[in-house]
Amino acid sequence: MKTAIQTEGLRRVFGNSIAVADLTLSVNAGECFGLIGPNGAGKTTALRMLATLLEPSNGRIQILGYDAEDETADVRRKIGFMPDDFGIYNDLKVWEYLDYFAMAYRIPSSQRRKRAKDVVELVDLNVKEDAFVETLSRGMKQRLCLAKTLIHDPEVLFLDEPASGLDPMARIEFRELMKELVKLGKTIIISSHILTEMSDFCTSVGIIEKGKLVVAGRIDELLRRLKGSTRLHLEVISGVVELRELLDAHPKVHSHTANDLELIVEFTGNDEETAGLLRAIVTAGVGVKGFYEKRENLEDIFLKIGAHKVS
Ligand SMILES: Nc1ncnc2c1ncn2[C@@H]1O[C@H](COP(=O)(O)OP(=O)(O)OP(=O)(O)O)[C@@H](O)[C@H]1O
Ligand SMILES: [Mg+2]
Repeated sequence: MKTAIQTEGLRRVFGNSIAVADLTLSVNAGECFGLIGPNGAGKTTALRMLATLLEPSNGRIQILGYDAEDETADVRRKIGFMPDDFGIYNDLKVWEYLDYFAMAYRIPSSQRRKRAKDVVELVDLNVKEDAFVETLSRGMKQRLCLAKTLIHDPEVLFLDEPASGLDPMARIEFRELMKELVKLGKTIIISSHILTEMSDFCTSVGIIEKGKLVVAGRIDELLRRLKGSTRLHLEVISGVVELRELLDAHPKVHSHTANDLELIVEFTGNDEETAGLLRAIVTAGVGVKGFYEKRENLEDIFLKIGAHKVS
């Protein structure tokens, strides 16, 4: 797979505080990478450096093979950056605003209207084309800013908390839009505080704390790596006592808790051993009604990282 975004030892210092510390990151073409971290973690600083708007104190950035320092103009043509404050100009109409940026990106006048139409359609803002920007709601302004970010059809997108402040319905729409951008083959780095929001469309995530990348990788790989045990849910209609005895004696059962006829088992075995456990339970005459593995999500990864400080 082709690497689209590569940073090496990226560092930014403000005075004597380190906002981003030696960030080394590699994102493949077509991936959507979620940069997740609390307030002040360094997300905006990292994204502004990637977008060539802030000079790194140290380190290198390569985007689609171009060096951000030596080939800044090439990089800028290929990227779209959506800042967290989305810098909107209020005294323009929606189409004028987009036309302005299309001009700034030197899109030929014959294509500008078409491009603007395409992007307003993509963000579902067609009905507001003739409205003044200042009359738009916050969510609409956010979508307009995303439209602007897409106007020159960039291959790489840097989106700084694009979903903050959106209502629940708008968040759902936003997720759909992100999925569409992924389908279009864009390479995306998107920042957020909220892990669960990202699991729908991100293919990989990095967790940043105090400027340091604590963990990063493909979501499925992270799950595999961090998964020390599987959580099995069991529902039985009879034979709880026998079941408990069996679980107590099983070498791969780490622990189990019961709530009447429902049990949660922390199991360290592999898939085959899981099947073997079920076989043993049935053979022991336990009336099993339900036996399933609880799938872990991003939230669980985060909790595990918090607990183990994986590096
Ligand atoms: N221009 C600046 N001058 C001085 N310090 C700065 C500047 N910009 C950022 N910082 C500091 O760098 C650190 C990282 O800030 P940054 O804005 O990158 O965090 P963030 O992860 O985007 O946070 P948030 O979730 O609040 O947006 C913070 O300690 C912040 O105070
Ligand atoms: Mg920020």
